[in-house]
Amino acid sequence: MADSFRLDLTRRPRRMRRTASLRALSCETEVLAQHLIQPLFVIDGDGAPESIESMPGMARLPIPALVEECRQLHRLGICGVALFPKLEDRLKSDDGREALNPDTLVLRAIRAIKAAVPELTVITDLALDPYTVHGHDGLWDAAAQDLANDATVEVLAEMAILAAQAGVDMVAPSDMMDGRVGAIRVALDEHGFERTAIMAYSAKFASAFYGPFRDAVGSASSAGTHHLDKRTYQLNPANRREALTEIALDEAEGADVLMVKPAGPYLDIIREVREETELPIAAYQVSGEYAQIMAAAERGWLDLERCRDESLLAIRRAGADMILTYFAKAYAADRA
Ligand code: PBG
Repeated sequence: MADSFRLDLTRRPRRMRRTASLRALSCETEVLAQHLIQPLFVIDGDGAPESIESMPGMARLPIPALVEECRQLHRLGICGVALFPKLEDRLKSDDGREALNPDTLVLRAIRAIKAAVPELTVITDLALDPYTVHGHDGLWDAAAQDLANDATVEVLAEMAILAAQAGVDMVAPSDMMDGRVGAIRVALDEHGFERTAIMAYSAKFASAFYGPFRDAVGSASSAGTHHLDKRTYQLNPANRREALTEIALDEAEGADVLMVKPAGPYLDIIREVREETELPIAAYQVSGEYAQIMAAAERGWLDLERCRDESLLAIRRAGADMILTYFAKAYAADRA
């Protein structure tokens, strides 16, 4: 029977999938260590790293351990790190003024890393959530029950100058205020930092997948919930055209890199942005995307390495140039 039944096919795509080398020759996408950016959490002092329960394998690092981690990442071929400070509660306030302290934790971390591993690209967020008691990304206007857009942008621009003075390579406004990219570009240029780049969180959605991150930086505990409602500034997950509007504005305002965040649930947006712009695109595989894979793998329900690799490949295939991912180090270590 097997011999007698034969389809008369001109095209048999399986021919190119027959052997490992044919599959390699026809492979369309790859993920290299150099495409990955490792987000890192930093705490003050020189104590032990603090593990983060909802992000297995990730820890908040004091600066000496952070610097050592950066050395290892650089050796593994990772090109960038994104730093997130976790402040003690006593440093948090309603207006997040600690963000403008010229010796605040994240600035000390930048200086330490740039002194030890100058080739590594250091990126810091511009947003007030690690610094405010309410956990929002900007200045809260109680009368309006909303963030004050322009006043927040003024603070972000000052944060950008401080980060640039500390030696950061890219600042990453993650607040979603209107007009912040343009204002930050002007502020940096006026202070002689025309070489400091801006990675704009352009299409940042009001996602439930940020939960574990809010534990990690403590914006959840200060707000009393990680279901913090940021829908007056972050994008509606239902909206595609609105994302493209934000992308166009950030490009026009002078962003050097445009980001889509989260990544996995928003592959369609990454693809559309790829078709709209010639700029490099970053995608952020966020804490909840990481936690899902880690949790299922811990239960033996998913194969950790294969799901990790496939999730990153999908993000690259969608069109991202660089990926912020908590898997960066493990991915690179497996290939070193
Ligand atoms: C805050 C910020 C968030 C993340 C990066 N910067 C969380 C938020 O908007 O509440 C999320 C990252 C992650 O979930 O991994 N400006």
